[in-house]
Amino acid sequence: MKILITGARGMVARATAEYCRSIGDDVAALTRDEMNIADLESVHAAIEGFRPDAIINCAAYTNVDGAESEPEDAFSANVVGPWNLAQAALEFDCGFVTISTDYVFDGTFDGFYTQRHQPNPQGIYATTKRSGEIDGLTANARSIVVRSGWIYGHGGTNFLSVMGDLLRDCKRIKAIKDSYGTPTFAGDLARRLRELAELDMPGIFHVTNAGEGTSYLGFAEKVCEIGGFDSSLLDPVSNADLHRPAPRPTSSKLACLFSEKFGLVPMPEWGDGLRRFVNGDLD
Ligand SMILES: NC(=O)c1ccc[n+]([C@@H]2O[C@H](COP(=O)([O-])OP(=O)(O)OC[C@H]3O[C@@H](n4cnc5c(N)ncnc54)[C@H](OP(=O)(O)O)[C@@H]3O)[C@@H](O)[C@H]2O)c1
Repeated sequence: MKILITGARGMVARATAEYCRSIGDDVAALTRDEMNIADLESVHAAIEGFRPDAIINCAAYTNVDGAESEPEDAFSANVVGPWNLAQAALEFDCGFVTISTDYVFDGTFDGFYTQRHQPNPQGIYATTKRSGEIDGLTANARSIVVRSGWIYGHGGTNFLSVMGDLLRDCKRIKAIKDSYGTPTFAGDLARRLRELAELDMPGIFHVTNAGEGTSYLGFAEKVCEIGGFDSSLLDPVSNADLHRPAPRPTSSKLACLFSEKFGLVPMPEWGDGLRRFVNGDLD
């Protein structure tokens, strides 16, 4: 397939470009300078130049706390961006996959959120991502929204991605013991994004690694177990102790109602994904 990937410098974009190229796709992975998704002219020019079979939108404003003080930037990338891309995909008759987040849920449900649960985003980042879902689906009936969560991967700068490096350097880390999610290795997400692009089945999908999920502390303990790091470097803390500007869901574990019914193979267990990441595998 000819795949256009946005936000090429980002963690998920890199994994997706890597995976698509590995299976022989013709890939245009464009940085913000090459295609600003908030700028319709820039979007049109890039799509017209490449004529993809599908666009996979990995670009977003992802600074959850920063969004509280930069709401316009979050809105441009997370709402205007998906709208522009969905419209352009309609015009150029190509598929469109865009990534959303487990943060669209408020986190008060003690179980796995499926597509039957009503989103109730808290905070600016989460609210813009939910609006981006609605706009993407409204602008183009062919849109595919992929909600994922707790993503980590090579080149990632978020806490889950850098934890192993910090522990390897014997740095102490604060690990939240009372927030729960379903961790997702970017390499596994990339594969599923590409499968969904080919499946071309519109709607909302939930994509995370399989299993019961865990807390940040549980994730950190698993990193120690796999990497042979010293787990006494972990300082368990409560989410409330960190006093961060943006609210986070207490529990945002995801499960998908559709993926396997549509013939997609189950996602690997999260511990398996983490093992491949810590061992340096690309997928
Ligand atoms: N990481 C997670 O745990 C997580 C969880 C749930 C959902 N998600 C979603 O997964 C997707 C990928 O996240 P990620 O972790 O790979 O993010 P990331 O590493 O922060 O990458 C995002 C990329 O988007 C680019 N970007 C921002 N605004 C843009 C614009 N207007 N036009 C073009 N590019 C733009 C950024 O460019 P610059 O490099 O120029 O800044 C950056 O390279 C996002 O939709 C995110 O909301 C992530």
